Amino acid sequence: MSDKSQIGLIGLAVMGQNLARNLARAHKVTVYNRTTETMQDFIGEHGSENLAGEAELEGFVNSLEKPRKIILMVKAGRAVDAVIGSLLPFLDKGDIIIDGGNSHFPDTIRREKELSEKDMNFFGCGVSGGEEGALNGPSIMPGGSTKVWKELEPILKKIAAKDFEGEPCVTYIGENGAGHYVKMVHNGIEYAVMQMMAEAYDFYRSNGLSASEIGNIFEKYNQGKLKSFLFEISVPILRKKDEKGTDEYLLDLILDKAGQKGTGRWTGIEGLERGIDISCIQQAVNARIVSSRKNYRVELDKKYKKPYADKTLPKDVVKELVPVIENGLYAAMLIAYAQGFDLLRQAAEEMEWDLNYAEIARIWQGGCIIRAQILKTLTEAFKEANNAPLWEIEQIVSDLQDNWLDLRATVSLGVQAGTPLFCLGAALASFEAMSDARGSANFIQGLRDSFGAHTYKRIDQDGIFHTEWS
Ligand code: 6PG
Repeated sequence: MSDKSQIGLIGLAVMGQNLARNLARAHKVTVYNRTTETMQDFIGEHGSENLAGEAELEGFVNSLEKPRKIILMVKAGRAVDAVIGSLLPFLDKGDIIIDGGNSHFPDTIRREKELSEKDMNFFGCGVSGGEEGALNGPSIMPGGSTKVWKELEPILKKIAAKDFEGEPCVTYIGENGAGHYVKMVHNGIEYAVMQMMAEAYDFYRSNGLSASEIGNIFEKYNQGKLKSFLFEISVPILRKKDEKGTDEYLLDLILDKAGQKGTGRWTGIEGLERGIDISCIQQAVNARIVSSRKNYRVELDKKYKKPYADKTLPKDVVKELVPVIENGLYAAMLIAYAQGFDLLRQAAEEMEWDLNYAEIARIWQGGCIIRAQILKTLTEAFKEANNAPLWEIEQIVSDLQDNWLDLRATVSLGVQAGTPLFCLGAALASFEAMSDARGSANFIQGLRDSFGAHTYKRIDQDGIFHTEWS
């Protein structure tokens, strides 16, 4: 066996370090980092016969067997182009660069084209699961050329998380930007699910429950159909007491301003540009935007007096509502997924990607941030119905039908409690509009034709019409 490394990895922030350690369990890896000291410290702590570091880029490239496979774990944006540019002088035809960051898919499409023109290969690879996932098994969403996929498949299968059947949470997603697109939509769904959980948390808090009491409810949710990584980690977050001597729950002291690095926003824009309703995802981004205007909210809170009496429900009533809210959350999450997969379907059609939705749901069963029991249901649903839209798949129709009234009740209860329902409200509205044969857009058409002579169609005869309404 050559003493060359099978894989190179550039970028030793924690995600990069952990992915390198994961790779080194089964392959010989060379790492490089712009700041040499970081690489030296990392090798000092984790170096092994399978894990070595190079201080110079040329030495790093020459340490790799051909065709070279180089994983970039650097910040999305210009840094990726800069690293590619610095590598090019040392690379040969057939070499493969794999971008494992949260890059924006148009950048990935551009990079793949630029490198293929040099007879080199570029893979945009969504890697989900954070630092823990990188070390112990992420969900991996690779996009690039099918011929190169064969080179990468065995390596990525070895480091990926496992699905419910014990299979690796990695699959070939599609050409060029498809992998990063699917990762982007994963993050959009992640935003929506987190916001729906936050709205349930807010409902319970508005009804006087303590963080720890809500933690007990979310612990119960994590034993049922909402079982998921996000509900699992929410319980210690809700129960954690502040360690700075305030005797408060730490959560009650956290500033209510949500950050966002951009993937949710990109997804929201995609929905508008491709004409697909992904209101749950867009509303989750809006909720973070509104939260970011904390100072202004404090000002407006002083100007407005809530016009509804404080209708805190008695605790025994709230206890009775726990399963209702659980069903409402489940329906809303199904709707968020249905929206996300609708966007994937539209993008696949327009970008000529051949996406396999059952496989995408399957690799989200493990490793990624949205890993959850619900993904087993979605995987099976897609398989049963040969990847048909979720809205029309029998299992999903039945689940939405069964939980519809509880979603309505959840929204009504949230409104009564004064809980802003960015996502739960959007989920209900979107589902009820999508499943209603006669909507209210006839009224929109009437207004548009009146003020702008934009014309309209009729439901009882063919043709295009305009009316002098006044
Ligand atoms: C993942 C995560 C990760 C992302 C976090 C934070 O799949 O491992 O989604 O990619 O960095 O979600 O992103 P925001 O700052 O946008 O919440």
